[in-house]
Amino acid sequence: MAETLTVTDNRTGNNYEVEMDHGMIRARDLRQIRDGADKFGLMSYDPGFDNTASCKSAITELDGERGILRYRGYPIEQLAEKSTFLEVAYLLVHGDLPTKPQLTSWVHNVMHHTSLHENTKKFMEGFHYDAHPMGMLISTVSALSTFYPDSKNVDDYETRMLQVYRLIGKITTIASYTYRNSMGYPYIYPDTNLTYTGNFLNMMYRMSEPRYQPEPVLEHALDVLFILHADHEQNCSTNTMRNIGSTKADPYVAVAGAAAALSGPLHGGANEEVLRMLNEIGTVNAVPDYIKRVKSGEMRLMGFGHRVYKNYDPRAKIIKQTAYQVFEVTGKNPLIDVALELERIALEDEYFVQRKLYPNVDFYSGLIYEAMEFPTRIFTALFAIPRTAGWVAQWMEQVTDSEQKIARPRQDYIGSDKREFVPLEARSS
Ligand code: ACO
Repeated sequence: MAETLTVTDNRTGNNYEVEMDHGMIRARDLRQIRDGADKFGLMSYDPGFDNTASCKSAITELDGERGILRYRGYPIEQLAEKSTFLEVAYLLVHGDLPTKPQLTSWVHNVMHHTSLHENTKKFMEGFHYDAHPMGMLISTVSALSTFYPDSKNVDDYETRMLQVYRLIGKITTIASYTYRNSMGYPYIYPDTNLTYTGNFLNMMYRMSEPRYQPEPVLEHALDVLFILHADHEQNCSTNTMRNIGSTKADPYVAVAGAAAALSGPLHGGANEEVLRMLNEIGTVNAVPDYIKRVKSGEMRLMGFGHRVYKNYDPRAKIIKQTAYQVFEVTGKNPLIDVALELERIALEDEYFVQRKLYPNVDFYSGLIYEAMEFPTRIFTALFAIPRTAGWVAQWMEQVTDSEQKIARPRQDYIGSDKREFVPLEARSS
């Protein structure tokens, strides 16, 4: 027998029985609760979707209370240790780990879609040298929609898969070209014999050498960071991807929208802000004073807190370990001491303990990126690359979900009641 919830409407004294499934009720079922035949019926009010599930998903499981993150059932710790980013991308999109031939074909398809149409390069050259990488990335991904009009056929599986290869492939090229453009360096064509991350480093950093050889420890560290950032269930940017996808718009404009959501400082833009904050604090001695300012409400401690995690973010744990592997090659980033002290004090402080504020994925990632000589401004683009795999996986799931429909929330209208138009000359100052 289905589990149910009984609701008593104290306005009318009526009782209603509402079915529960997976510990949820359908918001639609509230509509029957009315205090008059001509009334609209009960709705729920939930700014920021704090307690509202917008979909059923089999991709990522997140238990924020227990600090658990799994992709398709596999713990993030195991994937970070044993898998590669492209294998994880396959897992997210297809639901299972690939066999050897499946992986070979997947890697081939993604890597052979890393090149951009030559006109895209010309388009990117139009950006000013100091354009923010996320602005360039968002606009260029969106422009891909005009290069691939076939992508509009979102109901066809083969067409969708082609866009998945193109998007996961080309996002590295676009991100690296935003950097080359800002530095005034020539664009580097993809080297499909390298790994996904190795090729990205090639497109970022190759200068006059005939062939770029990525440093293996750094290549691996970046791959681990990409795995950790690949998906995170219904976060703000993924929700944006699904919102736009719900209109059957093509996936390029949907990814552009998702990337725009990611760019905000409360979301993926936080990694850039963390580095700015650590630089501003500068020394371990200055940490207590900074914490005081945060507690007084002057600013937030960037890289801390999460809507869902009320425990240590498991990704932050892995990133912290990875940081030390990277520092063995690059030398220690001195800001790590400031970060460790911030974390130490915050985890003991009542303000943070009470609010269950722990370091999130962005707290340590910037230190690694900086040690690898990525400019701070490109950090959020480094997040957008792997998250593209998550966005397209979620989009693939959504398109075939028969329960999904165009996203269109309701509102509580609190504006003026009906009033008569007043001509301009009759309005008082
Ligand atoms: N520093 C100081 N106080 C904080 C922080 C923080 N980083 N985060 C939350 N709080 C406080 C709030 O002031 C609030 O306190 P109050 O109850 O006294 O008013 C309480 O904790 C709850 O905060 P909310 O804003 O209601 O939490 P919400 O779930 O809406 O926000 C968010 C989550 C946006 C991530 C928030 O913690 C934040 O702004 N963090 C800093 C930015 C950041 O690191 N973002 C990256 C998140 S991970 C990602 O997107 C990849």
